[in-house]
Amino acid sequence: MPSANPILVVHGGAGTVPDELRSQCQLSIRQAAEVGWKILVSGGSALDAVEASVVAMEDDPIFNAGYGSVLTEIGTLEMDAMIADGCSMGVGGVIGVSRIKNPIRASRVVMEKSPHVLFFGRGAEEYVEKFGMDLTDPQKLITERSIQRLERYKEAKKTYGDYIRPGDDPERREKYGTVGAVALDAHGNLAAATSTGGVLGKLPGRVGDTPVFGAGTYADKEIAFSATGVGEVIIKSVLGLKTKEGIRMGLSLDAASDYALDYLNTEIGGTAGLIAVTNKGEFVAKKTTKDLVFAIRTEKQFTDFCT
Ligand code: GLY
Repeated sequence: MPSANPILVVHGGAGTVPDELRSQCQLSIRQAAEVGWKILVSGGSALDAVEASVVAMEDDPIFNAGYGSVLTEIGTLEMDAMIADGCSMGVGGVIGVSRIKNPIRASRVVMEKSPHVLFFGRGAEEYVEKFGMDLTDPQKLITERSIQRLERYKEAKKTYGDYIRPGDDPERREKYGTVGAVALDAHGNLAAATSTGGVLGKLPGRVGDTPVFGAGTYADKEIAFSATGVGEVIIKSVLGLKTKEGIRMGLSLDAASDYALDYLNTEIGGTAGLIAVTNKGEFVAKKTTKDLVFAIRTEKQFTDFCT
């Protein structure tokens, strides 16, 4: 017997979305939400739903994950992802992969097949290949837009030096990315998934918040959580666990999210976006950045925003 009304929240990154990409972002986020929602309403698991929504966004070059990921300062691809199943407390992630078309699928293989939680680089790629995942040429995942964004970043670095930091868009008009999904299924189980190319112009080897359990991705029997923004401040504020701390203090999910984002801003410094859902049926999509691309799907509500 179903014990909960399903809920799905997906995000396509926080930051500043350029005007000319807004309608495409909205269409893409809506499509990603529909993919996961179809699974939830047919009685499928939260885990399958969040994986499917994230795969849809990894395949869509508008987002900074999978195909279309941003590049490191030397023009290479280093993607991170993590998936978490609140029901079993299963967690799996991959770090710095470049030959995997869908890092979130690889994360699930790590979670379900290995005795470990995280694999990095070539070891991650070779491990998931053993379970039937095809490896691809990284060049096939790099888009012309990603190349142009890196060129602009490098030009700006030449002019402004350290005023331009990894993740900054030189024109201050196209800074967004990372994708994620959280879900509550009809059986009352929670799951979270997050996938990213990281931040534009990052140093090779840099790892962001996405595969850091409790920071960029988190799920247990009470809350599922996915963050977006510049990873360094999300890691330092342990944003997922900060949100859970707010709930443990007796706050609503809405207030707990504000508490976590406020902590990030005042104690660490910076902005971020987050999505979360609880076993009580609360859900949020919150940001302190200018924009957050997200969609919320429940039986009563379908909202999508690029705001
Ligand atoms: N939030 C993605 C990253 O900083 O890598």
